[in-house]
Amino acid sequence: MSAPVRIGLLGLGTVGQGVVRLLQKNRDEIARRLGRPLVLTHVYTREWSRRRECDLSGVTQVREARQMVRDPAVDVAVEVMGGLSPARELILEAIAHGKPVVTANKALLAEDGNRIFSAARERGVRVAFEASVGGGIPILKVIREGLAGNRLEEVAGIVNGTGNYILTQMSEHGVDFAAALAEAQARGYAEADPRLDVDGIDAAHKLTILAALAFGMPLAFQSVAIEGIAAVTVQDIQLSRELGYRIKPLAIAKRAAAGVELRVHPTLIPQAHLLAQVDGALNAVVVQSDAAGTTGYYGRGAGGDATASAVVADLLDVARLLGADARHFWPPLGFDPDAVQTLSVVALRDVECAHYLRLRVADTPGVLKAITSILAELDISIEAILQKEPQNRQDATLAILTSVVPEHRFNAALDKIRGLPFVRPGPSHLRVEHFNGK
Ligand SMILES: NC(=O)c1ccc[n+]([C@@H]2O[C@H](COP(=O)([O-])OP(=O)(O)OC[C@H]3O[C@@H](n4cnc5c(N)ncnc54)[C@H](OP(=O)(O)O)[C@@H]3O)[C@@H](O)[C@H]2O)c1
Repeated sequence: MSAPVRIGLLGLGTVGQGVVRLLQKNRDEIARRLGRPLVLTHVYTREWSRRRECDLSGVTQVREARQMVRDPAVDVAVEVMGGLSPARELILEAIAHGKPVVTANKALLAEDGNRIFSAARERGVRVAFEASVGGGIPILKVIREGLAGNRLEEVAGIVNGTGNYILTQMSEHGVDFAAALAEAQARGYAEADPRLDVDGIDAAHKLTILAALAFGMPLAFQSVAIEGIAAVTVQDIQLSRELGYRIKPLAIAKRAAAGVELRVHPTLIPQAHLLAQVDGALNAVVVQSDAAGTTGYYGRGAGGDATASAVVADLLDVARLLGADARHFWPPLGFDPDAVQTLSVVALRDVECAHYLRLRVADTPGVLKAITSILAELDISIEAILQKEPQNRQDATLAILTSVVPEHRFNAALDKIRGLPFVRPGPSHLRVEHFNGK
């Protein structure tokens, strides 16, 4: 067997400890698959006094991260610290020293990845990042390898487990958003500061990476249309169910006539669709491609062990190619001018989809007629309508599902509807996604 590949680990938190455990647990299996051992030789973390759930015997505990990424005794650097800085500087330093990098850092890649991939291309070094999307689901390898012969039309999925857990709790137990979030925090699914998850930012980071791979475009985080899940109510969930839909936190990258749609928002999807069955903190991604058709990938999107699975797979990948020409690894991300596609991102106002609208209205005659006339004027058909009669002389509730229309046209109708004297403030609007036109 050839010489071991020596790994330097930056960060020893949830994912870092998972990587240490997995490398130890499957050491022999991994060495057989690779043809040489993968050995963790160096670890850097901020606070060494903290108790860790992994065995670090025989590993050099590094006090200075820069020293590790420059050290010729380290063959591959694994960055699992998270955050933009100093992770960015350390990755760039590793690249400058010709060291391949494996990272799980979706925020850094989505927001500053173009710079990192250009540096990697110039230096002829690989940067692998399977763990940045979908945790244990090898979705990037599917796009890069398994579906490489296809033209991809759409990649859509539930890529934030916390958001999915919250909406599932609301749906199954009828608890409101705040209570479901508190439960997610108590179970360790949501951070103390849950904004990255519930505001859709984390999903947008992952969508940015998925879209870059799926369509061969530069990372375009700033162009993603993002809406969080905090405005979804139990009533919306119940009404959607009666209409035959589930509300899921979706991330959607989709080719359209005018370019590519990149959007993250709570979405109504038909109850029978694969993604509607994905509950709790689980993740799933569906890819629509021209030859393979629809394929779906489902599993644990986070957690130390699941994410370590992706990191270690990347380590094997990178180790197999040590010494080979790195420029062929993923040419568009290194800005190979011949490989990058220029695709404009469709503005949300021009996105075409169906819409769900929930209105609270005064219980007076002519209400329905006035609303349907506005929709008809703007050439918006009604696919379904639900009317909940008022109880105790309160307002009535209407839930309307529209046909597929450009968002600006729907917004024009919504503005007019909002202006009607009997429509109460705060209508609820959600988009509906029909896959393959179903
Ligand atoms: N957790 C998941 O399920 C998951 C899934 C997919 C991707 N990821 C990504 O994986 C990365 C790591 O996530 P995690 O959950 O493992 O994070 P974590 O539990 O917070 O661990 C981060 C580790 O990095 C160290 N660290 C952080 N900032 C540092 C700094 N400025 N200087 C030195 N050390 C620093 C911490 O040191 P101390 O412990 O010594 O303070 C800790 O060991 C993130 O990019 C995250 O987005 C996580």
